[in-house]
Amino acid sequence: MESNILKRLREWFKKNAATLPWRPADLDAPRDPYAVWISETMLQQTQVATVRDYYIKWMERFPDIETLAKANEEEVFRYWQGLGYYSRARNILKTAKMVSEMHNARCEMPRTRKELEALPGIGAYTAGAILSLAYHQKEAILDGNLVRIFARFYALDFLPTDKASAGKNESCAEAYWKYAREVADSPKAYMHNEALMELGRTVCRSKNPDCANCPLNGGCRAYTEGRTGEFPPKRERTQRDWHGTALVVESADGKLLAVSAGQAFLAGQATLPHFESPRNATAGLPAEAEAYLNADNVVSIKECGSFRHNITVHKIECRVLHVKLSTKASKCVASSGNKIDPRFNATWVKKEATAKKFANSFSLKAIKLAFR
Ligand code: ADE
Repeated sequence: MESNILKRLREWFKKNAATLPWRPADLDAPRDPYAVWISETMLQQTQVATVRDYYIKWMERFPDIETLAKANEEEVFRYWQGLGYYSRARNILKTAKMVSEMHNARCEMPRTRKELEALPGIGAYTAGAILSLAYHQKEAILDGNLVRIFARFYALDFLPTDKASAGKNESCAEAYWKYAREVADSPKAYMHNEALMELGRTVCRSKNPDCANCPLNGGCRAYTEGRTGEFPPKRERTQRDWHGTALVVESADGKLLAVSAGQAFLAGQATLPHFESPRNATAGLPAEAEAYLNADNVVSIKECGSFRHNITVHKIECRVLHVKLSTKASKCVASSGNKIDPRFNATWVKKEATAKKFANSFSLKAIKLAFR
């Protein structure tokens, strides 16, 4: 982008930058790299309006890397609950622990792209955001907002995720990164990067872009050719339907079974036992449930209806069964007679601790149905 266009962009940003908890009033002030890392990671797949409160609560509880590094995963998930894409939370904790062990007296985020990208959960985008917004380096970022802006500004008929077409020797992603680096090749890289994200969010929106009020409209090819609707090119999003059953297994002493394992979604988190099952499943306990409980000590099975829920690309429709056992929780997991597959890492959760231990909406929705 030419320098006069970038100047307009900066002027627009100074006038229009929203007040956000991670954005200091002085837009030229270097930021706390920890705060940039947390906010930008939260913002990767979640809208600003949602992130706002989560970010404030997070920073109150974990104000710096040292504090975060000492926390456990369960608590971190609780502060993340509702933001989705929980691998982000798990990686944040891993990275905090790694940074705090780096013999780095001030416990500071690294200052080079190579070191940052070697940390769990930090990719090219987050590294660029930390380096530019916090350390004021001339480093590029590329997120969905910038992709949309570049696609329109340069009338690009491909997406970064497309395979390179015949005759082109650079990847589609690289073509976009070149534009991103051009914008960041300035002492004002931090402002160009953030202004473009803000512009994408508020003006160059996916639907109904406000081109008349866009500071880039003088140079935008899509706008000047009246073809804004054509860019970026559309691609079908692959949604995956998941139809299954969740079990609310209650022991004789009123505890609920939690498992964790590599499942289709929520892998590694404490969730209710769940498995894929056909939409027209017959009443009673499906055979798959045997992995999670011993049918001999089942005293009742109640059908509790079903709920819908989306996790990443999984479009979920889930039937809920409330299964009561005749055995106390301590007997179920420890005794040799129990049938819970050890790979599921089963634990029992007191009913009062449900909200604390099942830190995901999938399980909470099912539990709500079982006890309504
Ligand atoms: N979206 C993601 N990060 C952002 C930021 N720093 N400012 C505005 N929108 C964003």
